[in-house]
Amino acid sequence: MNQQNNCDVLIIGSGAAGLTLALHLAKSADVVILSKGPINEGSTYYAQGGIAAVFDENDSIQAHVSDTVIAGAGLCDESAVQYTAENAKACLDWLINQGVDFDKEDDNQGGEKYHLTREGGHSHRRILHAADATGKVIQTTLAQRVKQHSRIRVFERYNAIDLICESDSRNNDEKRSINKKQCIGAYIWNRNSEKVESIYAQKTILATGGASKVYQYTSNPDVASGDGIAMAWRAGCRVANMEFNQFHPTCLFHPNAGTFLLTEALRGEGAKLRRPDGSRFMPAFDKRAELAPRDIVARAIDFEMKRLGADCMYLDISHKSSDFIKQHFPTIYQRTKDLGIDITKQPIPIVPAAHYTCGGVMIDEHGRTDIHQLYTIGEMSYTGLHGANRLASNSLLECLVYARAAALEISESLEQNNCFRQLPLWDESRVTDSDEEVVIQHNWHELRLFMWDYVGIVRTTKRLERALHRVELLQQEIQDYYRNFKVSNNLLELRNLVQVAELIIRCALERKESRGLHYTLDYPNTLAEAKPTILVAKNDSSKSLVPNTELNT
Ligand code: FAD
Ligand code: SIN
Repeated sequence: MNQQNNCDVLIIGSGAAGLTLALHLAKSADVVILSKGPINEGSTYYAQGGIAAVFDENDSIQAHVSDTVIAGAGLCDESAVQYTAENAKACLDWLINQGVDFDKEDDNQGGEKYHLTREGGHSHRRILHAADATGKVIQTTLAQRVKQHSRIRVFERYNAIDLICESDSRNNDEKRSINKKQCIGAYIWNRNSEKVESIYAQKTILATGGASKVYQYTSNPDVASGDGIAMAWRAGCRVANMEFNQFHPTCLFHPNAGTFLLTEALRGEGAKLRRPDGSRFMPAFDKRAELAPRDIVARAIDFEMKRLGADCMYLDISHKSSDFIKQHFPTIYQRTKDLGIDITKQPIPIVPAAHYTCGGVMIDEHGRTDIHQLYTIGEMSYTGLHGANRLASNSLLECLVYARAAALEISESLEQNNCFRQLPLWDESRVTDSDEEVVIQHNWHELRLFMWDYVGIVRTTKRLERALHRVELLQQEIQDYYRNFKVSNNLLELRNLVQVAELIIRCALERKESRGLHYTLDYPNTLAEAKPTILVAKNDSSKSLVPNTELNT
């Protein structure tokens, strides 16, 4: 019999979104946080540039809104943008109160003020940061607070497999509960004991981050496999705008570098993009040159690489003083130096890589999904903030703003006498140990490679159709495998990645135009009317207490 755990609130994911929510809620609820790896492993830890918020007296909320909307290429939900920009300062103040130490500078009046850096698409200096390791400071500070809290338990090295839902005929909220279901917890795989357990929760929140690992080259850590998006979709939630995958223009190109980002703040502080012959090319593509929004810069780099048959382009900040570079970009300076590149003297080889998932699970302004008692926050959710292209440094901000909003809603709607319920058992009586791990490895590589080649920066309908055909074949194979063998991390992630790949391709095929991050040679123009792409799950919700999982029977 599998072990059942119980709590008031289950938060799946321990990045900026999950930890912020937990800290807001722990006054009024017993919280469990699940983390697929160690608590700090997620995109948050690796964030470099910083968080956008209006702190400068010459800046304004309206300017932040306008920059976000322009970057979003006409597809932002303006109420979400306004809400986020208005709440940014309060959320940053909260973060500072938790102990996050952002860089300061002399205010020329005998005091100090926050040093604000600049990034592409921002009309003002607006980015609070901790040198070039902002995410590490935020993640470790929040994780430390969480670990000290008596009402928060952290389950590290646990994979959520699927949500457990039951039919909810009492729920008449047609708009928010289109499937008339409610979520009552999840099946979780304990990687320490290698056993499947279950967890009952009155409220379940998915905060599992993005899905950029679906691409061969990515700036993201390994955990970014779109698990929450796939789980919510399987449970019956709508997803939107999955075609908008953001490719960061400048990731380090080096055989021994693995995944390493070169923050946009480098360009904000004056770094220039160059061809292998040293000439600049961005002014020919956009009047904002290196500070154009990311979709434009990534496409320009891709175009130049393909035109010249070059392996990479170059990012050059060597005109700045060595002291300035070492003070503002210590992590990048050290990492590149270890690889034999002195960025104070020479340009850095770069390529674009998959960086951010702009679409995701549809939620309202309180983080509520289509399923009662199920919420999502952070990168995996679609709030409407990012439209067709996210503005730099708006992502951590979205995590904070929507975690706070969800916390308010959850604490108001939490029933105080939470009666734990018996959950249906996970049946693995007919599965065996995997005998052909090579199948998983092979499918894993194949998926990520054709996503890169066919569903990348520049798309065509033919390539998308080709990719969809391959995804459908892989889905069959992986589903068979999932039914017959015990779960493992690779198998669970692959099952989710292939699901997310399908959602990306289907959204991309639906969009008959080029807009923001979605660029297709078959429809190069932008339509006059901007509409989100919304996919509706086909799941039948009429069965009662049927876990939304393909039980291993
Ligand atoms: P994450 O921080 O990715 O956390 C996801 C969590 O979910 C992890 O704890 C993971 O273990 C857990 N998880 C996933 N699946 C499961 C599962 N099945 N079961 C249990 N747990 C699971 N944004 C900015 O605004 N400013 C920046 O400067 C910036 N720089 C960036 C630099 C890099 C290199 C990267 C990769 C991203 C950057 N971003 C930046 C984007 C931003 O960091 C992310 O969008 C944000 O951190 C996402 O936070 P999150 O809490 O939603 O998810
Ligand atoms: C960066 O530092 O360039 C990343 C910023 C972001 O993704 O918002």
